[in-house]
Amino acid sequence: MRIIITESYEQMGVEAANIVAGQIYLKPDSVLGLATGSTPVSMYQRLAAVHKSVGLDFSQVTTFNLDEYIGMSPDNPQSYHYFMQENFFRHINIRPENVFLPDGMADDMVAEGERYEKLIASRGGIDLQVLGIGQNAHIGFNEPDVKFAATTHKVELDEETIQANSRFFNSVSDVPRYAISMGIKTIMMAEHVILLANGRNKAEAVYKAVCGDVTPEAPASILQLHRDVAIILDKQAASLLPSAIRGVQITVK
Ligand code: PGA
Repeated sequence: MRIIITESYEQMGVEAANIVAGQIYLKPDSVLGLATGSTPVSMYQRLAAVHKSVGLDFSQVTTFNLDEYIGMSPDNPQSYHYFMQENFFRHINIRPENVFLPDGMADDMVAEGERYEKLIASRGGIDLQVLGIGQNAHIGFNEPDVKFAATTHKVELDEETIQANSRFFNSVSDVPRYAISMGIKTIMMAEHVILLANGRNKAEAVYKAVCGDVTPEAPASILQLHRDVAIILDKQAASLLPSAIRGVQITVK
């Protein structure tokens, strides 16, 4: 595990974008796993800027998003399909046929989970997975007490997650209760993983992910067992971490 601590939210996005851009330069047909939420927006903005300024080429890139709300059609402005389009895809030269998210409108979520896993496998697996982290240390929508062996599946959102996500809706009662999410196993199978976090409200979750026991109560803690993970933080999200952690390389930018 590597940790990169940056001065600001913008700088966190730049560091993350550098890793993603490096992956695409090395392997133009990379398969990226992508995340929604406020956290990765500065990374998407930076990647779009690099695409515009020096022509970072997404034409052979494939993307798989982590999750989608159940019951949300892609044209719903609160869907993650829509979020990705607005915040990233429409600013780069990715091909629509290479963009994948779980289908929140599928009739049979078990079949949809299997279909999504097969699609990922058919593209050769995920080279680089981007993650945010919830205040309850969830990754994707894998909430505390997750089954580490799960692949893409239907999940019931935690009350804490519903409250946190209500800022994007008119009222808390409008937040969907269910989602379909890649599982921990899907995430752990990615070749490389980067996890981004900013803000003081993520500091406890980051501490649990990096320094706590590996336990289903803190889903992100499983990343301690991944062979190549970089955690990119602003200094508020890093504020509870000790200055040295055994087996972890810490870089302060
Ligand atoms: P956020 O969500 O980036 O909007 O804070 C992260 C998450 O819940 O995984």
